[in-house]
Amino acid sequence: MKNGVDINMNRLRFVTSNKGKFYEVKSLLADYEIEMFNVGYPEIQASDLEDVACYGIRYLWNEYGGNLFLEDSGLFIHKLNGFPGVFSSYAQNTIGNRGILKLLSDEKDRRAYFKSVIAYCDEKGSIKLFGGRVDGFISYEEVGDEGFGFDPIFLYDGRTFGEISLDDKNKKSHRGFAVNEFKRYLDNNFKEVL
Ligand code: IMP
Repeated sequence: MKNGVDINMNRLRFVTSNKGKFYEVKSLLADYEIEMFNVGYPEIQASDLEDVACYGIRYLWNEYGGNLFLEDSGLFIHKLNGFPGVFSSYAQNTIGNRGILKLLSDEKDRRAYFKSVIAYCDEKGSIKLFGGRVDGFISYEEVGDEGFGFDPIFLYDGRTFGEISLDDKNKKSHRGFAVNEFKRYLDNNFKEVL
């Protein structure tokens, strides 16, 4: 206890099995104790990441209580009408980066963006959403072995996310923006209580 408040309030459970996501988020929330909470939750078929995230966090609150958050993200490719979008994880595990490059093989319009939605549930069951987006292009080949998932085919400012360090990616990525918004919320709210 500190000033009558449990200091474990600074401890948050991040519901994910993705180590790449976990390290990025942990590095941005260095003032907090972040635990990787590897439990499953239903990902509903919906066209918006927000809907998927809201459904998931309500389920997690019912099962495991509050003080936890999840992050849903996806790659949206303009020429493919937003595919893979909410199906990004599935697409990554099936067709992979090579499959995406193949789908765009003769295509000049290579615009794409990554989007991230964080859903947080506090210990009282109150839910908040935070979001971030980064616009870029799909490269013509895989470049770099940093990061995870679609990083080697996502071009931003002349380099793929697969070519840049975690710290550099966190400064410009969808997840970096979403986590910073989340952090501002946590900093303000915890400051009020402590
Ligand atoms: P989900 O959020 O767990 O549903 O998975 C989203 C999927 O989108 C991941 O498995 C990755 O394939 C992809 N993805 C999301 N964010 C990133 C990123 O920052 N880099 C590369 N791929 C990403």
